[in-house]
Amino acid sequence: MRDLRSVAKQTVLQVKPYVPGKPIEEVKRELKLTDVIKLASNENPYKPSPRVLQAIKSASLQINRYPDGGCHYLREKLAKFLKVRPEQLVFGNGSDELIVLAVRLFVGDKDEVVMAQPSFLVYSIASSIAGAQIKNVPLKDFHYDLPAMKKAITSRTRIVFLGNPDNPAGTYLKQKDVESFLEGIPQDVLVFIDEAYFEYVHARDYVNSIQLLKKYKNIIISRTFSKMYGLAGLRVGYGVCHKDLSDLFNRIREPFNVNSVAQAAAIACLEDQDYYRDIAEKVERERAYLYKNFERLGLNYQPSCTNFILLDVGQNGSDVVKRLLKRGVIVRDMGFWGMNQHIRISIGKRSENRQLISTLEQVL
Ligand SMILES: Cc1ncc(COP(=O)(O)O)c(C=O)c1O
Repeated sequence: MRDLRSVAKQTVLQVKPYVPGKPIEEVKRELKLTDVIKLASNENPYKPSPRVLQAIKSASLQINRYPDGGCHYLREKLAKFLKVRPEQLVFGNGSDELIVLAVRLFVGDKDEVVMAQPSFLVYSIASSIAGAQIKNVPLKDFHYDLPAMKKAITSRTRIVFLGNPDNPAGTYLKQKDVESFLEGIPQDVLVFIDEAYFEYVHARDYVNSIQLLKKYKNIIISRTFSKMYGLAGLRVGYGVCHKDLSDLFNRIREPFNVNSVAQAAAIACLEDQDYYRDIAEKVERERAYLYKNFERLGLNYQPSCTNFILLDVGQNGSDVVKRLLKRGVIVRDMGFWGMNQHIRISIGKRSENRQLISTLEQVL
């Protein structure tokens, strides 16, 4: 007998579903543990600022109303902050939504999408659902191989995804390399520059992508309030692009895709730069602490400019992840990405990082 599964789209049935990091409460419940830390989803481990908490409280009194579908106040504030025009911004329910919308806008089942392998899983999941052919270009020593990605573009290519910094490697693309990559790319290919971890990067040669918008109409830069700004639970991200492109995105997004509490909290984050810059500095200090301890344990890691680190555990990574989990430490298994000896660790607070290191010492 025919059921719904038998009539579901083949492209959907073929997709390997995204497996997020396990929530703390689930691990406590399942393993009957009381002390559990999560270093698996590249979240900000620190509390929102008092100003953000106050904005959330005030906005919550109005949640009987629909949100402002155009994100007017957030748009004005962010446009000033980034020195772009308000019409150049598109908002999403997290920056994940912008990836999905870009694929929905441009990619059909006869098209190709170019991405690095490994890279952020949502690029391939969204493209597979659209039935596209994915052209994976392997990383070269944990960095994007931009010349090879450029060569992979054909007349059927609709999107190239550049994660900058990339997840899971944590490496970044330089200004000069992105500039020479963009030179000569056909105008009907969208270059999607995903800068979810932008606020953590301090390298001098990191690309100034907003400047590139003056020259290129076929790029979109996505950023998020989920990472340094710590609003992962509220879901708000944005894209910056030419106004003709934002017009296309706005045609297909849901009318109320960013909720009102998220809009208010994002505005407050922009007004509280010192608080969040301080968090980025703390992450840098904690990153150095983790590097030092990995070195002490004789473990190789990939230097990262983000709030996560790819660590070579020198043995089966999935087993190490399971052993850590049993002891209440949630980190990310890289098996899904085909990296069998690696695990990905999000940088936590000092107490969490200490617990991670001592538990790693026990399980290795
Ligand atoms: C590279 C990259 N892009 C985008 C996202 C999506 O973030 P959000 O949807 O919370 O904005 C993530 C989240 O982990 C990420 O690692």
